[in-house]
Amino acid sequence: MIKVAVLASGEGSNFEALVRASRNGALDAEICGLITNRTQIPALDKAERLGIPAAAITPKTFSQRAEWDAAVLKALQAWGAEWVVLAGFLTLIGPKVLEAFSGRVVNIHPALLPDFGGEGMYGRRVHEAVIAAGAKKSGITIHLVSAEYDRGRILAQVSVAVESHDTAASLAARVRDLEHKHYPRVLNDLVHGRIITD
Ligand code: GAR
Repeated sequence: MIKVAVLASGEGSNFEALVRASRNGALDAEICGLITNRTQIPALDKAERLGIPAAAITPKTFSQRAEWDAAVLKALQAWGAEWVVLAGFLTLIGPKVLEAFSGRVVNIHPALLPDFGGEGMYGRRVHEAVIAAGAKKSGITIHLVSAEYDRGRILAQVSVAVESHDTAASLAARVRDLEHKHYPRVLNDLVHGRIITD
């Protein structure tokens, strides 16, 4: 079974959706572990409840970014991970991990990149920006991770209409539903070579 590690920083709802998909067969891969960049976040509670190994590897406990990068790589290798899947992970992935998992680090973004992306654009802020700009549609983007925020090659996008009565919260809820439905599906295609990343 192909092993996939998930990285998350907050709620972990996408992490949970991926674990459920792996268990019901929609995603033919094993979620081998969760890495977080913070302690005491709901994603860690979900990992415990779901029986998935988890490691909180917090950048601030390392004097150098390179040491944090090496610690993340070590955890991924200890689990035998073959793919690295970001699900609301808010720290830039380091060069050691990117090199070791070249073409096998993916992220999901809650808007249609290249719009409404980049550093600081995450979660609610993304939906607020979409509404403030008067965009007629939003959606999800699944893309390869590179050394810059939200700039790696786009692998899949699914759009949803922005309604005139939408708030950031209502749009976020619809986009979140899309994420839970499509992230496992696209990941399944990726890990089985039906989408080529290198
Ligand atoms: C998701 O909507 C994900 O797309 C977003 O954070 C949320 C995490 O939710 N990621 C970004 O905004 C990255 N720029 P979750 O913790 O419940 O899965």
